[in-house]
Amino acid sequence: MDNQTQIQQQFIIRKLEIEDYQKEFLICLSYLTKTPELPLEKFKEIHENYPGFVYVVEDVQQKRIASTMSLVIEQNIFETKYFIENVVSHPDYRGKGFVRSLLEKIKQDVISLEKNRNEGNENVNKEISIELYCKKETKGLYEKLGFQENGFMASKYV
Ligand SMILES: CC(C)(COP(=O)(O)OP(=O)(O)OC[C@H]1O[C@@H](n2cnc3c(N)ncnc32)[C@H](O)[C@@H]1OP(=O)(O)O)[C@@H](O)C(=O)NCCC(=O)NCCS
Repeated sequence: MDNQTQIQQQFIIRKLEIEDYQKEFLICLSYLTKTPELPLEKFKEIHENYPGFVYVVEDVQQKRIASTMSLVIEQNIFETKYFIENVVSHPDYRGKGFVRSLLEKIKQDVISLEKNRNEGNENVNKEISIELYCKKETKGLYEKLGFQENGFMASKYV
């Protein structure tokens, strides 16, 4: 997996780094969800224990996180599941194709992760899927990015 990919002049895609705390990562995320105060130490702990990878687009001139998307990896009994979460672009950087590029990067990384996991094993399911949960308002975005509605997702407050 490449460490970073240049996507447009001045912008790169890479995995989240601790230094992104100073590069307004949490501000970018706050446009998706209410983000509580998160001290640096706690941020480091979450970063280290994240069950997958957090990807970011950095504006390298402004040293600012423009967009982010996370890949959660869940090892089930028979298969590995891949989920997308925390998809957001800072309002200053929307409409530039960053979410599309992040998804493409994640797709390539998932393919190479699966390839490495299954090396030498011929009895393997060749279909790899990436799943996500989204609100009705953003369904159109994901359909545009090639996702198809599949099943029923529900929540119960406890
Ligand atoms: C939705 C959001 C993540 C899109 O980010 P973005 O960086 O502007 O997306 P991109 O520029 O990569 O857009 C990719 C494609 O999706 C389309 N698109 C973007 N938002 C869309 C929406 N809400 N509905 C339908 N299509 C949408 C774009 O037009 C683009 O299509 P194109 O490549 O054919 O031109 C951004 O508006 C955002 O952060 N919104 C608030 C947080 C949010 O709702 N996140 C999703 C949670 S499920």
